[in-house]
Amino acid sequence: MNKLAFKNCLLIVTGSIAAYKTPDIVRRMRDEGAEVRVVLTSAASEFVTPLVLQAVSGNEVRQDLFDQKAEAGMGHIELARWADAIVIAPASADYIAKLSKGAADDLSTAICRASEAPILIAPAMNLQMWENSFTKEALDSLMKKGVCVCGPDSGSQACGEVGLGRLVEAEVLLESIANLFNAGSMAQIRVMVTAGPTREYIDPVRYLTNQSSGKMGYALARAACEAGANVILISGPTNLEPPKGVGVEYISSASEMESSVVNNIRDIDIFIACAAVSDYRPEIESSQKIKKSASTFSLKLIPNKDILSGVAGLTNAPFTVGFAAETEKLERYAKDKMTKKGIDMIAANLVDNDGTGFNSDDNELTVFWRDKSRILEKQSKEKLARKLVTLISKVYRESL
Ligand code: C5P
Repeated sequence: MNKLAFKNCLLIVTGSIAAYKTPDIVRRMRDEGAEVRVVLTSAASEFVTPLVLQAVSGNEVRQDLFDQKAEAGMGHIELARWADAIVIAPASADYIAKLSKGAADDLSTAICRASEAPILIAPAMNLQMWENSFTKEALDSLMKKGVCVCGPDSGSQACGEVGLGRLVEAEVLLESIANLFNAGSMAQIRVMVTAGPTREYIDPVRYLTNQSSGKMGYALARAACEAGANVILISGPTNLEPPKGVGVEYISSASEMESSVVNNIRDIDIFIACAAVSDYRPEIESSQKIKKSASTFSLKLIPNKDILSGVAGLTNAPFTVGFAAETEKLERYAKDKMTKKGIDMIAANLVDNDGTGFNSDDNELTVFWRDKSRILEKQSKEKLARKLVTLISKVYRESL
């Protein structure tokens, strides 16, 4: 069976030099069984002609918001309803910025606003433009709204630079379009993951922290994304690469993590608290470096809010998953924690010296929910995360 059989795919081509590749993309989409219609922005028509795209798509190419020939003069609504998926390729820096701001002042942006179809963006731009924080912020905000992102690739660019910013190869793009229709175990689900340690500052150069590497949380964010979820990762300081396709907010302290969670929790279906959040913070954070003086030094600590309990206690709380790292009595302590925090599920592991737990690449978990439990045996955190995501989505769906 062709990957895109019987699917109506709307391709929006925007003003990037990579637009010259779109006739080939359209041809391949049709080879996979898709019915393709193309919308060109005015900038895109500087790089590729409507005539070429009309020839390869077999459909008239649309460019104007106000088109007398469109059904009742409302072409954007007609196309928004027709599309099973909207693919924006190549997506220029300017277009991504416009879309993230909710623009609806031309045919293509109006369609994106009016459609309920999944949207896939394939960015293509110069390396510096890709790395600019405006681009990152715009993409993060689109991803939080459920837009999927494919690429960009790294390599030589039309501008002579070498690096990230190339439009992904056609095969990769086709795979991502097909994935929009493959309901993974977490398709249409919005997931928030917290990961990593927190830093509780004593003065500008000293802080309290813990050994968490963030590996488990990042692996969970990646696995949830692969399973089709729309994922936000709230991360403490780590050395890890953010997973592709996941919107990331970086924070430092527990209080910042709490604000970030609260600000983004609306509409989240599943909250996975994997971060090793500091339970306490110094009562006073000195604005200047503290000088050595007396022979002893006391630090008064005050408690941080329990983020997970806070989320579990919300009206319309999402499905909540916590972690428990224990050194003994795993089952009893984990179950107590689940009850005390009022959460739906807890993944517990024994912290010992056999290479599992904090900072290691492998882990082993016992997961408890309701009166049930499952052991996920020792394996890489990547594999473990995929198993845990499958289990979470199953229990979550049963809870609906
Ligand atoms: O109580 P304890 O710290 O052992 O609980 C661990 C679980 O609670 C983890 O899921 C962790 O992410 C979460 N937690 C939290 N906010 C805190 C402390 C822990 O969300 N302040």
